Amino acid sequence: MLLDTDPGCDDAVAILAALARDDLDVVGLSTAHGNAAVDDTTANARAILELVDRTDIPVAKGATRPLTVDLRTSTDIHGPGGIRGDLPEPTAATAPIDTHAAQFIVEQAREHAGDLTLAAIAPLTNVALALALEPDLPDLLDELVVMGGAAFSQGNVTPLSEANFHTDPHAAARVVQDLSPTIVGLDVTRTATLPPNLLDSLPRDDPIGRSIREWLTYYDADRLAKYGIESAAIHDALVIAAIADPAVLETNAYHLEVATDSDLARGALVCDGQGLTDAPPNGSVATDADYDRFRDLVVNSLEQYLHP
Ligand code: BDR
Ligand code: CA
Repeated sequence: MLLDTDPGCDDAVAILAALARDDLDVVGLSTAHGNAAVDDTTANARAILELVDRTDIPVAKGATRPLTVDLRTSTDIHGPGGIRGDLPEPTAATAPIDTHAAQFIVEQAREHAGDLTLAAIAPLTNVALALALEPDLPDLLDELVVMGGAAFSQGNVTPLSEANFHTDPHAAARVVQDLSPTIVGLDVTRTATLPPNLLDSLPRDDPIGRSIREWLTYYDADRLAKYGIESAAIHDALVIAAIADPAVLETNAYHLEVATDSDLARGALVCDGQGLTDAPPNGSVATDADYDRFRDLVVNSLEQYLHP
């Protein structure tokens, strides 16, 4: 599995969950702009790997900006530099490889042809560029699982649009059109929270415990009240849980498109839930999740770092 990621507090939890599992072979992280500028998300990805002593995982730095629209970030939510907590200063051990993220995705897809799962948990610029470099990418990937969109519910940046799709709508449109993704959107991730009592078990005298605490509490009180949830949504970790255990999600096939030609609808995932277009399905959308299963899986993964 390869993660295209913009850490990001929920990305950080997703990365730890993926790395903890013996049944997921993480071949690398490609970094995207999104929660912060790509220089910052790349530094955060490296710091996360150093924190948990996984400097064996290669990091490939990605595009600095969306394909067409201007860069936007979410440092107001995730913290200055795109992540909360005191992370170690990255060292040469995690220096980004000399290959662009898009090229890295292509190379890994070719090397593991038919076997690679791409978990795209950030704006889709790198994935769209990878498709431009390698038109056979759809055949080379085993599966593409995307955190993005709000097919049947409200967005989180605009009423219609979720952050990853809003940030690079043109990339999202291309990926949805050509790569048959499994979409894990806000419909199911908005309530992908971890049990508040998990915080009690996190050691305060341990850097990993302290970082996880910061990542799990990245929503302020206003945001929790707005969404009516007790703790922050760990959107991206639901993608990892679903890859590790497909029973975590219920999905249905639909015809999907992403709006690019309207400011009002920028990045909106248009899901033909009633077959109104007569167009064939070109992707799947998660419609429900088994949250107990999700929580068990993520909590068990995180515990491995706390009680090795
Ligand atoms: C998505 O946007 C980012 O802020 C999160 O990391 C997640 O990937 C949620 O809308
Ligand atoms: Ca993310």
